[in-house]
Amino acid sequence: MARSALLNVMVQAAFKAGRALSRDFGEVENLQVSMKGPSDYVSQADRKAEEIVLGELSRARPTYGFLGEEGGERKGTDGQHRWIVDPLDGTTNFLHGIPHFAVSIALERDGVVVAGVIYNPVTDELFTADRGKGAFLNDRRIRVAGRRNLENCVVGTGVPHLGRGDRDTYLTELSKIMGEVAGIRRMGSAALDMAYVAAGRLDGHWEDGVLPWDIAAGIIMLREAGGFISDKQGGDRMFDHQSVIAGNERIHKELLRLLK
Ligand code: IPD
Ligand code: CA
Ligand code: CA
Repeated sequence: MARSALLNVMVQAAFKAGRALSRDFGEVENLQVSMKGPSDYVSQADRKAEEIVLGELSRARPTYGFLGEEGGERKGTDGQHRWIVDPLDGTTNFLHGIPHFAVSIALERDGVVVAGVIYNPVTDELFTADRGKGAFLNDRRIRVAGRRNLENCVVGTGVPHLGRGDRDTYLTELSKIMGEVAGIRRMGSAALDMAYVAAGRLDGHWEDGVLPWDIAAGIIMLREAGGFISDKQGGDRMFDHQSVIAGNERIHKELLRLLK
């Protein structure tokens, strides 16, 4: 499978940050027992991973802008392109020694996401997507699942936690969805959930309170895998509304109907 030069740059950046995260993840378990706990260590690992990604991407494309979860917005001289990066999506999992987290890197051109990479360094699963060229898991082309009835579907979500989100709205949504589907998963990484929908492992995903770096790479992954994704109003303003609903055409429509 031939990758474009840009996608290659993104993949190499994700691999390099992934190697650093894997090493640090190995240390986390040792730190669980210390009084201070591993959280300072984890935020250091997070920042370090973002520095690595920033270093790799800006070496290859010095003029592009960069939006990272840790360092915020860095304007580029090129007004057209912007990287959108979550160096560690699934921080809570990482902190608790749960091997389900990812580096997420997207490229935006004129406000539209055109390429994405989501990499879990523990499972060594690399999800990539390039506009018009499809989505891949490692070297294998992926597509969203074909299930047509919600009753057979497993759907991912994000649960608002301490100090975040609207509990009552979420509980109403959850009670609507749980009565209609075969299963719900809260796996702890929005980026991986979206990659899993693209790969047909999950049939859908919905979440509120997601930020551009959580979802940017997932958006192109889903579309290139033949999936549908929108904000909760059914529109295209996922970054502005900080919400996503995803699935194949039919499941996306069904979830939208229940959640709108
Ligand atoms: C979080 C994860 C989680 C989602 C949250 C995100 P972080 O990102 O993606 O699954 O439910 O909304 O903030 O903090 O681990 O980078
Ligand atoms: Ca995130
Ligand atoms: Ca993060």
